[in-house]
Amino acid sequence: MKIVLGFARPGRKVAFRMKICCIGAGYVGGPTMAMIALKAPDIEVRVVDMNATRIAAWNSGTLPIYEPGLDDVVKQTRGKNLHFSTDVNGAIKAADIIFVAVNTPTKTYGVGAGRAADLRFIESVARTIAEVATGPKIIVEKSTIPVKTAETIKDILAANARGIKFEVLSNPEFLAEGTAVADLQMPDRVLIGGERTPGGEQAMQTLVDVYARWVPRDRIITTNLWSSELSKLVANAFLAQRISSINSISALCEATGADVDEVANAIGKDSRIGPKFLKASVGFGGSCFQKDILNLVYLCEHFGLPEVAAYWDGVVKMNDWQKRRFSTKIVRALFNTVADKKIAVLGFAFKKDTNDTRESAAIAVCRDLLAEQANVVVYDPQVPADEIRRDVLGKGKEDARLTVAKTAYEATEGAHAIAVVTEWDEFKKLDYAKILGTMHKPAFIFDGRNILDLCKLTALGFRTYGIGK
Ligand code: NAD
Ligand code: UGA
Repeated sequence: MKIVLGFARPGRKVAFRMKICCIGAGYVGGPTMAMIALKAPDIEVRVVDMNATRIAAWNSGTLPIYEPGLDDVVKQTRGKNLHFSTDVNGAIKAADIIFVAVNTPTKTYGVGAGRAADLRFIESVARTIAEVATGPKIIVEKSTIPVKTAETIKDILAANARGIKFEVLSNPEFLAEGTAVADLQMPDRVLIGGERTPGGEQAMQTLVDVYARWVPRDRIITTNLWSSELSKLVANAFLAQRISSINSISALCEATGADVDEVANAIGKDSRIGPKFLKASVGFGGSCFQKDILNLVYLCEHFGLPEVAAYWDGVVKMNDWQKRRFSTKIVRALFNTVADKKIAVLGFAFKKDTNDTRESAAIAVCRDLLAEQANVVVYDPQVPADEIRRDVLGKGKEDARLTVAKTAYEATEGAHAIAVVTEWDEFKKLDYAKILGTMHKPAFIFDGRNILDLCKLTALGFRTYGIGK
């Protein structure tokens, strides 16, 4: 690999062993590249995005994503070997390795709408690389994509290559939001898929060497391209399936008097089942679980496997049912009407320790309650009010029934009921006796995350409801 001169810090030249760029400065591109920059000071990392506002935020004191520990990693690297800019073409030209971490949302139009992945951003990046590159590159799929996407990328690159050699690798990302820094620091595994040709093997080795600077070698798995692409979808499908499984059992617990947390604990002690991802909830959210399962469903249908498609589709259907079940429970408990009643929704992010609201269960719950003409007051410690309104009502729309509070106490004052939708730690520490004093009676609490001590709250005087309790 060629040695390139760069600046470690203003005024001091160092030799960068390699140049990496990442197209897409989102929840994946930003943190993953910051970690590579931290662990490999001899590699220059440029993160580029067409969204100038996002890039400006990455270069500011307030990063565009809230992720514990990320500020520190960025502070240690930014301006040294980590750079954020909108110069996509310049970064492509300079890079030896190009990571592609653009969004791959569910298609909303045409064939496969509502299920297939929309690959327009992937294709546009492939075309830009082919157009702009002046030398050989390793292209790394970081985005989650359907199996065989590497074939499309290779096809586009080959058709426009002008004699330039490209190797395409798959390197799916497994970080979870809220724990991204820890996940990147010590991943369970790094998966790298490539072609089993001399060029493909060499490209894989180059990427293995980047990760091997901090990831134990036995955690770096290499496979063929299709296994790598498919493993990412399957990992998310299995994780989501566990949540839908325990959520389905939560309904049975409510009907029978069993306690879902006790059941989860009992079955999780079996080492074949394991304790993780068995927390019953109001339903899973996030930008990926639903999207990736729907993508898997679409692939199965495409390959003539309707039974397999139906099996995985059930995971998403169960999740939708669980979200609806939660809002229905609120309406039923409040004497079958929430019209004109104030409901405090605590938490809006799809999980704690993130400001990401994509597919958050809170969106569905708020919409259901507004449809029942409730006055909904949302509080979330990290999500801005504009984002909450946009997510629930749609861009530019207003509804006087939906308001956003600055604190949990403000949200719950004068409320008829509280719905805990995100498991933020601060909700465990609130002064519920004080809150009860300000609420209409009977005062209800619906804990959609099973984080509160419902026995204590019942003793205080609340009418309490958990999930699967
Ligand atoms: P994101 O929407 O936060 O970021 C994607 C970025 O790509 C955006 O900022 C967008 O402006 C940029 N972009 C799109 N097309 C571009 C182009 N042609 N040129 C320059 N920039 C372009 O998405 P994300 O959450 O970071 O996810 C990215 C991918 O990683 C998705 O495929 C997702 O499924 C996958 N993934 C996400 C997570 C997660 O926790 N969010 C985890 C693992 C994998
Ligand atoms: C998930 C996967 O965990 C990551 O490995 C993957 O890389 C990522 O998707 C992705 O591809 O985007 P993420 O969505 O960030 O990560 O967060 P999770 O911790 O998986 O939580 C997803 C949703 O499930 C959240 O709404 C969470 O509250 C919910 N959940 C999680 C439960 O309801 N119960 C559980 O036991 C665990």
